[in-house]
Amino acid sequence: MSILSARALSSAEAIDTVFSFFSSYRAGIDDRDVRADLTFGNPHEMPLPALVAAITQRMQPLTPDWFAYKTSEEEARSVIAEALGAELGLPFLPEDIAMTPGAFGAIALAFSLLLDPGDECIIPLPGWFCYATTLRARNAIPVPVPLAEPDFDLDVAAIEAAITPRTRIVVVNTPHNPTGVIYSRERLAELAAMLTRKSRDLGRPVFILSDEPYRRIRFDGVSFTSPAAVYPHTLIDYSYGKILLAPGLRIGYLALSPSMPDADREALRAAAVTSQVGGGWTFPDAPLQYAVGDLERIGIDIAGLQRKRDRLHGALTQWGYRMTKPQGTFYLWGRAPGGESTGFTRRLAADGVFVMPGTLFDRPADFRISLTGSAEMIEASLPAFEAAAPADAPQRR
Ligand SMILES: Cc1ncc(COP(=O)(O)O)c(C=O)c1O
Repeated sequence: MSILSARALSSAEAIDTVFSFFSSYRAGIDDRDVRADLTFGNPHEMPLPALVAAITQRMQPLTPDWFAYKTSEEEARSVIAEALGAELGLPFLPEDIAMTPGAFGAIALAFSLLLDPGDECIIPLPGWFCYATTLRARNAIPVPVPLAEPDFDLDVAAIEAAITPRTRIVVVNTPHNPTGVIYSRERLAELAAMLTRKSRDLGRPVFILSDEPYRRIRFDGVSFTSPAAVYPHTLIDYSYGKILLAPGLRIGYLALSPSMPDADREALRAAAVTSQVGGGWTFPDAPLQYAVGDLERIGIDIAGLQRKRDRLHGALTQWGYRMTKPQGTFYLWGRAPGGESTGFTRRLAADGVFVMPGTLFDRPADFRISLTGSAEMIEASLPAFEAAAPADAPQRR
């Protein structure tokens, strides 16, 4: 019998594959033998100077209460309501923005606000590997629903088939990790129409949690529609960690769609602050909140990221890999040679190149490359990818 709560054990089990991978993938490997670590979406170059300047400046206290207890700071919420409103073309109110430690904190807050033990939340498959553990930590049930193959679009019929009287949330992650797909307005409207009908049948709203931390990381000028624009019962989570490539600075927000009925928004607003206190004071550190105006103006070089995408996508497809061309995010997703990612990632690792096996996404045939490695790392990784290319590739026959 464990001394741990069933909830803690179930949460741990849901993320076990990720932790095992994280703790072992570079074990016993000398750093000098690492040519390219393209696993997690972490920075591999020095942080943006403008970011360092903004944080440094905001660390300097100007008033005695600079480091006092802070919930969601007025100014940060106003800046975000205006910036998000301009970006999505929707009139957000400052009081509908809750400041959180990144998108992670906003997702956890949304789950705490909406889910009772045993309630179900639909998550995409493949999808980010932390939804399930965050749900299990709240005694809620993750219900993975596969995306449509081969283009990884939302499968509205499959989502509808997965809805039960316990379904409270459908997570929509756009741009999508790991495939880089951005959903069209038409597909989101189709989802919205289905959820409106289902909510009516169930007698309570099924919410969309729109997980948008990569919203500003888009390629080829592709446009973006938030589910908040087409479905009133939408909560948006966002993180500054992606656009700044600084995930260790924990700041983001949860925003309520301005078209959500007033009574529901008022209930959520009031409960958000108490839920964050009850959750262990889950507000971002004060200096990060003071810096939001600066953070809104800073971002990584998206054109450079796109060049890395093109370089890797071009080379790998030429060598016979079946890759999805991402419209956004940090990632490149594809089929491992022979449809077996564990052996493939080990083979690359032997050449000093590290990528993520699809086992972390419950898709063992596939693998993910992070484009957050430097351009030099990406160049250095290419010989290993060429050497491990699919045996049946046309160029290799
Ligand atoms: C799809 C998705 N959602 C949420 C998060 C959490 O973002 P953050 O750590 O910046 O809060 C991530 C991070 O990788 C992600 O990929």
